[in-house]
Amino acid sequence: IDLQPFNTMTIAARAKHFCAVTSLEELRAALAFARENSQPILPLGGGSNIVLTDDFPGLVLHLGMRGLELEEDAGGVRIRAAAGENWHQLVMRSVEAGFGGLENLALIPGNIGAAPIQNIGAYGVELKDYFEQLTAVEIASGDLVTFTADDCAFGYRDSVFKGAGKDRYLICEVVLRLPNTWKPRVDYPALQQFFAEEGRPLDALTPAEIADAVIEIRNSKLPNPVEIPNTGSFFKNPVVSEAQYTALKASHPNVVAYAAGDGWKLAAGWLIDNAGWRGFRRDGVGVHDRQALVLVNPGHRSGHQVVGLAREIAADIKDKFGVTLEPEPRFYP
Ligand code: EPU
Repeated sequence: IDLQPFNTMTIAARAKHFCAVTSLEELRAALAFARENSQPILPLGGGSNIVLTDDFPGLVLHLGMRGLELEEDAGGVRIRAAAGENWHQLVMRSVEAGFGGLENLALIPGNIGAAPIQNIGAYGVELKDYFEQLTAVEIASGDLVTFTADDCAFGYRDSVFKGAGKDRYLICEVVLRLPNTWKPRVDYPALQQFFAEEGRPLDALTPAEIADAVIEIRNSKLPNPVEIPNTGSFFKNPVVSEAQYTALKASHPNVVAYAAGDGWKLAAGWLIDNAGWRGFRRDGVGVHDRQALVLVNPGHRSGHQVVGLAREIAADIKDKFGVTLEPEPRFYP
């Protein structure tokens, strides 16, 4: 089967086996097949955070379990969502029901099942801020396992599912908790600027108004994958030491950075932009013209070509700023 319709980078690659599951029973049967035939597994959700560097020599497993429940109680709301539910639709369901918390995470592409793996985040909020627990199937045994927030070991674009638990579990259900102690979270510069221009007092904002602002800001700089193939930010924002930041700041006074623990998180988009790559195009692949952290594939080229450009950019950033960029999407195989 051709995987081009299943990845937002629109890379053409073939899967040796493909199976779309919509229930735990089907998932376990597919896992049994993979185990008996020693097939590696590629779990597929919205396909918005993968780069296919070649054909996949195993089982591509589309996780399509559905189900979304909001359970309100005196302290707030608990949201139970199956892996195959769309993230943005979940955000809008909670916002429209009047619950605050997830509005800064509006319009992030992809499905619920993938959200905890990289602890999706935007505009000053991360999934971990509202995460309660998840249920996953252990690939080796087919057993269901529950992970609390602590078990998930969330970090910036990071979790146990990228470390010790990598390739060992398939996330089936995620439970979020939005307490009704909600307050607007509008510290992020782009949001501050948006509401300042509108002349709006920040403490009177509703979750729906913030969601609208986030949607407008994202639409103004991030390409819609349906129109211009991409996987969002192609690199993580690198965290560097205080000493490295001070040196960089001396040579590049305008560098954009945020304090992060005892180091600094650099805006990789600023580095790539200032190295002259924004808007770059070659052979159908390139760098988005309004956000240099996003690589685009309007020519529907191969993963090889996309990764080639990414390597070239990373080498140039290392050369010009002494900073190492790490890819943010997962490469398969
Ligand atoms: N910048 C430039 N030139 C560019 C791009 C950015 O100078 O071409 C500067 C901006 O002016 C701004 C700073 O870099 O001062 C940060 O840019 P932006 O606010 O667009 O955010 P980002 O750091 O590039 C991160 C996330 C996004 C998330 C936004 C908003 C990562 C890897 N990316 O991007 O997440 O939407 O913040 O919170 O952390 C994703 O993960 O796929 C993603 C899109």
